[in-house]
Amino acid sequence: MTEPNLLSAVNLHKKFKVSGQNRSTRFLTALDQVSLHISAGETLGIAGESGCGKSTVAKIMAGLLLPDSGDVLYKGTPLSQLGKSDRKIYRQKTQMIFQDPFSSLNPRMRVGDSISEPLVISGMPASLRRAELARIMASVGLPYDSANRFPDEFSGGQRQRIGIARALAAAPEILIADEPVSSLDISIQAQIINILLQMKQESALSMMIVSHNLLILRHICDRIIIMYLGAIVECGPTAELFSRCRHPYTEALIAAIPGLNASDASKGVLLHDDLPSALSIPPGCRFHPRCRHAIDLCRSEVPKMTEYAAGHTAACHLSEALFGQGSD
Ligand SMILES: Nc1ncnc2c1ncn2[C@@H]1O[C@H](COP(=O)(O)OP(=O)(O)O)[C@@H](O)[C@H]1O
Ligand code: SF4
Ligand SMILES: [Mg+2]
Repeated sequence: MTEPNLLSAVNLHKKFKVSGQNRSTRFLTALDQVSLHISAGETLGIAGESGCGKSTVAKIMAGLLLPDSGDVLYKGTPLSQLGKSDRKIYRQKTQMIFQDPFSSLNPRMRVGDSISEPLVISGMPASLRRAELARIMASVGLPYDSANRFPDEFSGGQRQRIGIARALAAAPEILIADEPVSSLDISIQAQIINILLQMKQESALSMMIVSHNLLILRHICDRIIIMYLGAIVECGPTAELFSRCRHPYTEALIAAIPGLNASDASKGVLLHDDLPSALSIPPGCRFHPRCRHAIDLCRSEVPKMTEYAAGHTAACHLSEALFGQGSD
């Protein structure tokens, strides 16, 4: 049986200070009332254009960044209430994989030592570490004899394998991957995605995968959250999101996937303007300046997040009118 809500976020808010003209200080809204959950064994995707707040959510969930308000709950306990030792356990149980694995690897450390570091920290005896290192390296397709080499001797794809191996060595419960394949060639992307898929099939590991590429998330995730300008606008089971989305922004993102929905593209579904600045979030529905369906209500009233089918929610005043009622 799966354990509900291994990790959840309640009402996360995050603003960043940015300097404006004449040395003035302004605040941009990176996250606004973001709530989500991940169950044990579940793979959750977070999608949206660049600048929507995906990385900010990922860092807060991993305990690397504090929200201004709201909290992250690990097995029901708010991180803000965890003592020092429990917080350390949380940081070990929640491992993050970055877009650029090179930046998180020590260039002067042999990769075998980098991958083994969490094993040493966990107190695993030296006699067992060798076999465990070999097992972990094999699970991500790295030859064991490469353990003595340094990070700059590896290609981008191999470095991402090293990043995943190092994360796995900490025996995590949750893996948070922020754009794990964005910097890789298409053919290498498929290899890394297959490793993540294999991990999903073979272990009870929960994963949160952040990507601006919906097609990748469709391939791996059980559920997908769509973010727009710091807020969640839709969340639903992957298959349902693709067969029957409930928000015009999701519809536009799906229509933009090359080769998937050529007819939608010709119906004018595609987005044209750039994402507005997070320094001034539009009133009412934050998507209204780019929404082809916007009515007066959308410009003044924030749409409520509404559940249309089990686990499928969206925040759009016209969702029922545009996409029909409930589930089929
Ligand atoms: N450290 C920071 N300082 C100032 N602004 C930031 C910082 N980190 C992120 N932002 C801003 O917050 C918003 C969300 O950023 P981010 O979470 O990185 O989005 P995404 O990962 O979806 O591209 C963007 O407007 C970005 O410019
Ligand atoms: S609430 Fe209005 S503006 Fe916002 S997505 Fe729905 S129809 Fe478009
Ligand atoms: Mg990002």
